[in-house]
Amino acid sequence: MALLDVCPVEELPPCSVKIVYAGSIAVGVYNLGGAYFALEDRCSHDDGPLCEGDFDCDEGVAICPRHGANIDIRSGRALTLPAVQPVDTFPVRVEDGMIKVEVL
Ligand code: FES
Repeated sequence: MALLDVCPVEELPPCSVKIVYAGSIAVGVYNLGGAYFALEDRCSHDDGPLCEGDFDCDEGVAICPRHGANIDIRSGRALTLPAVQPVDTFPVRVEDGMIKVEVL
């Protein structure tokens, strides 16, 4: 397990996302109304750059820019086709004002 610095809390305001890299894995870290969630930046449908697509902050949904699948950022669950499998999620925590994500 690796604990990765994302950014200071003030650099990730509500309804924003920041993508960080851990080796070959890219992770999108989201602020949803003050709660933080992390989702692998790889769509379960066809490996699209999921977290680079739109973020529906009202619903907490990432919209894949490749074919439009909706993924719940809290659970990684696929909500719409063409994705059916969940996307990996990662624990997020804040320590001393710094957002950190635990990546396997
Ligand atoms: S790669 Fe994301 S919907 Fe196809």
